[in-house]
Amino acid sequence: MRCDILTLFPDMVRPVLGQSMLKRAQEKGLLEVRVRNLRDYTLDKHQVADDAPYGGGAGMVMKAEPIFRAVDALRAEHGTELRLLMPSPQGRPLTQRFAEELRDEPRPLVFLCGHYEGIDERVRLVLQPEEVSIGDYVLTGGELPALVLIDAAVRLIPGVLGDPESALAESFTDSLLDFPQYTRPSDVQGWAVPEVLLSGNHEAVRRWRRKEALRNTFLKRPDLLRDRVLNDEDRRLLDEILHERTNVCEARGGGRLS
Ligand code: ADE
Repeated sequence: MRCDILTLFPDMVRPVLGQSMLKRAQEKGLLEVRVRNLRDYTLDKHQVADDAPYGGGAGMVMKAEPIFRAVDALRAEHGTELRLLMPSPQGRPLTQRFAEELRDEPRPLVFLCGHYEGIDERVRLVLQPEEVSIGDYVLTGGELPALVLIDAAVRLIPGVLGDPESALAESFTDSLLDFPQYTRPSDVQGWAVPEVLLSGNHEAVRRWRRKEALRNTFLKRPDLLRDRVLNDEDRRLLDEILHERTNVCEARGGGRLS
């Protein structure tokens, strides 16, 4: 995956790219990211990349021309078409499917990070970037969303995560939340690890994990189960979960409500 991040704040993104899985992906040649300072594409002595808004008002607006020059330079460097993405709360929501789409994108991904009060509207009109949102809230700029998008896509590239099954087994790939994980010691302040995980019985462990993933999803994100076609095992496990809940209610003296 090839990415360029166009930003006025390169130091907001560089440290994150130099850590953990994103660093490893680059070392393994599975990710190539370059961070470009938009000020380097200005022509004036003071490298001004933003200015006051026409019509007045608070804050600053990012100028169009440095952005046009930066995108032209990237097109020339890559020698191919680019996929230009602009993080924005108005954009297409990020989902696991969208992350997969970004992972599979053959064109270089260019993230145009807005800041301040926004970007001169002519950038949107001329370059027609694809706006992408990471959620219904407003951040101070596009740098953190760009990192979120890259992280969500890169971890899906085979070879980036240590265990090739990790990405597959995890939340959302299968529209289920994670099952709980435990590590040594087996007793922490009187809290024991579920026995099945110490049993060495791989089939029992697999079944327990599936059931706990279903339980987590049922309790925390029931919307994810709503349109799902359940296989026989999942239906049985959900039945067990529902019965356990009913028994707990009855044991507490609540009985049935109806
Ligand atoms: N820029 C500011 N807020 C954002 C959001 N929620 N998603 C993507 N880009 C943003």
